[in-house]
Amino acid sequence: MSFDLTRVRADFPVLAREVNGQPLAYLDSAASAQKPQAVIDAESHFYEHGYAAVHRGIHTLSAEATTEMEEVRAHAARFLNAASPEEIVFVKGTTEGINLVASSWGGSQLQPGDNIIITEMEHHANIVPWQMVAERTGAEVRFIPLTADGELDLAALPKLMDSRTRMLAVTHVSNVLGTINPVKELVAQAKAAGVATLIDGAQAVMHAKVDVQDLDCDFYLFSGHKIYGPSGIGILYGRKAMLDQMPPWEGGGSMIATVSLTAGTTYAAAPWRFEAGSPNTGGIMGLGAALKWVEALGLDNIAQREQALMRYAMDKLASVPDLVIYGPQHRAGVIAFNLGKHHAYDVGSFLDRYGIAIRTGHHCAMPLMHHYDVPAMCRASFVLYNSEEEVDRLAAGLTRIHMLLGG
Ligand code: ALA
Repeated sequence: MSFDLTRVRADFPVLAREVNGQPLAYLDSAASAQKPQAVIDAESHFYEHGYAAVHRGIHTLSAEATTEMEEVRAHAARFLNAASPEEIVFVKGTTEGINLVASSWGGSQLQPGDNIIITEMEHHANIVPWQMVAERTGAEVRFIPLTADGELDLAALPKLMDSRTRMLAVTHVSNVLGTINPVKELVAQAKAAGVATLIDGAQAVMHAKVDVQDLDCDFYLFSGHKIYGPSGIGILYGRKAMLDQMPPWEGGGSMIATVSLTAGTTYAAAPWRFEAGSPNTGGIMGLGAALKWVEALGLDNIAQREQALMRYAMDKLASVPDLVIYGPQHRAGVIAFNLGKHHAYDVGSFLDRYGIAIRTGHHCAMPLMHHYDVPAMCRASFVLYNSEEEVDRLAAGLTRIHMLLGG
């Protein structure tokens, strides 16, 4: 199947707008991706024609909304090749999902002296929840360091893992470096030692097909808004045997079996036990549409197109004077860089004047900034709707800034 970039771009209404008198070059999809018309329509259609509270009413609208929501759960299970929809928990996003696992699994399993292994390239969402539960339980957080070219130092893992290691929590793709981690091998090593595994897929699922049964991980997470769906909705995959043994983490409606003021509360089965309160149903419908949209294009097709664009971008940016690029040559989705001695905010502000949107700052990865000894980086991200022409504009913009400001 060939890739029709013009047609793909036409699906995203916002890409037609101008910013500061220039056509928008949106190179910040790793922070949050734009939405195709199908997602916008699915959410408005739900509010216009089918909105009602789910899991609560006997009336037609409520029953229909409940069925549609559970269809999206089943769809998310197929999308990740989970064994059943009961392994899918609706969460606000990757961050909430990791907090859920750290709080529920970690809070009930970790003992003083246990340890959790993460990596030096994690997003704060896969660091802080583990630090919080470690503090609560007396466990320790260890990390796999990086090699000079921004990959995980895999030789360090056997030295870090011991009989008290309980969890290995790793990002699939680095949100800063774009490094694609060998998560299947890492899971196999952890599993052989009886260690539970969690993969943060927030920067991975939009770039290539993920199969959680093949990875054999216990938990996998992603956010709707980075895969062209709405904000405030995400997916936690949990192996059924793990979810079944985990206590609830938030109490309220929908997650109970019975409630008594005198005899206490019994809980619903997983995954509903983890979904207290009224869910983000509009977001769930939008997420369902996003998954359909991505599948219609085909993840293999998307991966091929994006890899070609990434190679083009790496080559093109190599010609910009004084540009330091962080991370490995082969990567997914993002290119982080600094231009000479200039602060990332200055570079980002200049690019914005040319209609080019990138992200600047610490990228919620302060330990990684510390590793590279920089306060901030610029990050351009590339997805299926970006073009070679946008890459050229980025390179030209950076060259112009270098000329104006010096090295
Ligand atoms: N986690 C998002 C990013 O990397 C917000 O930009």
